[in-house]
Parts: sequence; C-alpha cells; structure tokens
Amino acid sequence: MDLDGLWQRGYARLGKLLKRDEAEQIRSLYEHSEKFRSRIDMARYRFGRGEYQYFAYPLPERIDRLRHELYAQLAPVAREWMSALSIDARFPDELDSFLKSCHRNGQPRPTPLLLRYREGDFNCLHQDLYGDIVFPFQVVTGLSRPGEEYSGGELLLVEQQPRAQSIGHAIRLEQGEAVAITTRYRPVKGTRGYYRTNMRHGVSPITRGERYTLGMIFHDAK
Ligand SMILES: [Fe+2]
Repeated sequence: MDLDGLWQRGYARLGKLLKRDEAEQIRSLYEHSEKFRSRIDMARYRFGRGEYQYFAYPLPERIDRLRHELYAQLAPVAREWMSALSIDARFPDELDSFLKSCHRNGQPRPTPLLLRYREGDFNCLHQDLYGDIVFPFQVVTGLSRPGEEYSGGELLLVEQQPRAQSIGHAIRLEQGEAVAITTRYRPVKGTRGYYRTNMRHGVSPITRGERYTLGMIFHDAK
C-alpha cells in the first residue's frame, strides 16, 4: 500500500479494496436498521443534506476485518506523524489495543458508518472528532459507480495553509476504491521542523442518482 500521498498532500489513494459484489453487499446493509446504533439526518444538524448510519458492535465481519487491516497499515505512519509534530499520542500496532484505550477513556461507541446521498445531497466541510483520542487517518470507500449510478458527489479535501489561501482537492471514487485521508491536520516541513496545516473534508452536491460510501473511522466515540 503506497501511503506517500499522506505525507505529500494529506491523502493517499489505496486502490480498489472491494470487489463489486462486496461493495454492493455492504451498501445493501443500509436497509437493515438492526445493524446500526444510530441514524443521522444531516439537514437536522445543518451538516449538509443526506443521511448516514453508524454501525453497532459487533461490526459485520467484512467491515471488521477491513478496519483491522487498514489500521495495521496506517499505524506506523500515524506514529511517524506524531513524532514529526512532537505530539504525545500512542498508536499501537494492533487495532484491538488502540480500541481498548478508546474504551477505557470514555469512547466506547463504534464509528464505522454507511453514508447515503441522493440528488441534491452534500456534506459540509468538517472533521470527524469524537473525543480526546483521535486516530490521524480515516478511510473512505466508494460503494456506487460514478457516472453510471450518480453524478457529482466528489470527496472534497480542503487544506488551510497558515498565512495563505486554502487548497482544495476533489476526489472521484470508483466503486470499491478507497482513499485514506487525514482526520484533522498534516505535518508540513518548514525551515525549523514540521508545522501543522488544518484539513477538513466534505462531499460536493450529488447532481443525479444515489451514492453510497463506507466511512472507516478508527477511534471510537463518546
Ligand atoms: Fe467525515
């Protein structure tokens, strides 16, 4: 897995992680409310328009496995980032030990989620922070086919540069394709060591059809 992009620009395309039938199987879970702990109507909170649901524990097997595998690949980069920024945060090799520390610190609720956007829906720029413990990366996987099943709906990433204007990235995700993005900032090398630039993400308006994504967040929530 090539994670250099995380250092270069705050996100890395991970390629196709799910086959078509897997992507379609996962998105079909959306209708099974017993698999989820809560459903959010974004317009109600002025987060945007559209909805998403947080999975309940135990996670569906495929999602649990993916969460463990991705965490294990990303944890070494998470440690490098924290050391570059001189931040004291512990990201053990295994997801289970990381989750134990979330649960001990009052963040027991699962955060992987399925998002469903329909025509006119969008997601405002934001960061997914659910407590003091924050894993620096999260992974978004496309579950629908752009062009065929929907139009618009690019994943947006905006980097706020200090004393300069912001940089925007628009990412079109193929079905089954995943991208790792920074959760809240990235280290940038300056003349005297690293500094942080703040990053937020969102989704541009869907202009046609229906778009599902899987959001994989690694820290659990309060
Ligand atoms: Fe998000």
